[in-house]
Amino acid sequence: MDITTAKLVCFSPTGTTRAVLEGFARGFAPETTELVDITRPDVRARPLRLADGEMLVIGVPVYMGRVPALLGDWLAALEGNGAPAVCVAVYGNREYEDALLELKDIVSDRGCVPVAGAAYIGEHSFSNEETASLGRPDTSDMAHAEAFGAKVREKLQGIASLDEVGELKVPGVHPYGGRTELWDVDFIAVDRELCTQCGLCAEVCPVEAIDAQDGTIIDEKKCITCCACIKSCPEGARSIKPGPVKDAQGRINSLFTVRKEPELFL
Ligand SMILES: Cc1cc2nc3c(=O)[nH]c(=O)nc-3n(C[C@H](O)[C@H](O)[C@H](O)COP(=O)(O)O)c2cc1C
Repeated sequence: MDITTAKLVCFSPTGTTRAVLEGFARGFAPETTELVDITRPDVRARPLRLADGEMLVIGVPVYMGRVPALLGDWLAALEGNGAPAVCVAVYGNREYEDALLELKDIVSDRGCVPVAGAAYIGEHSFSNEETASLGRPDTSDMAHAEAFGAKVREKLQGIASLDEVGELKVPGVHPYGGRTELWDVDFIAVDRELCTQCGLCAEVCPVEAIDAQDGTIIDEKKCITCCACIKSCPEGARSIKPGPVKDAQGRINSLFTVRKEPELFL
């Protein structure tokens, strides 16, 4: 079967999920690739409807072993219309638990036909220079993502219709484990000497939790601890304060030191 357009849908506050999907798209090489970056609140306000000849490639970071809960409304409005779907979970070298299964279940409920799934490793949102996942996805991960794209292309070219595709099996259990509630925590330290009030932190925040005029003002109720503001600050003015997020960083650095590799399900 022919796919002319790949719709790359990603939620990717710190850019690792997006990088993996872009690698996939290079390998799949459709006529047209459209990026639907649902990290941005304005993009999340518009529902996506898939049409004939289109394929959904959806990637989310794993948050507490789950699909990030704030995507619930957007995902509930997705109209799959029988389009093939590739599901990608990107996690920070701890575990992806049931997140890939949850993503697969969601897209099937929305009328897509899951044809492939994968779990990739991205630099952990809470990373520092001692974190094992630093710099991932790296060259080897990106080559893997491109090869994954080529494999999915081959799979689809080998069939006349999606009726020939069997049930996609991915790891995970029902009911899902993990947690959908994130910490409600004041964890960002801003160095006022370094901050130039450039406003980039407010621009990259996926939930509009940072004041556009004063980056030191953060709404903790809205904040999802994604660390996009910390990682994108050109002055290095933002960091993780002592507290639960810093403690989680310590656990990640001491417990998850063995490099994990991407996994494919086709
Ligand atoms: C709130 C939160 C929860 C997370 N939970 C997990 C987890 O359960 N397992 C894991 O390995 N990584 C976890 N991570 C790390 C992210 O999945 C990982 O860094 C991912 O690459 C971030 O994707 P992005 O760059 O597209 O934002 C978590 C990150 C955040 C912010």
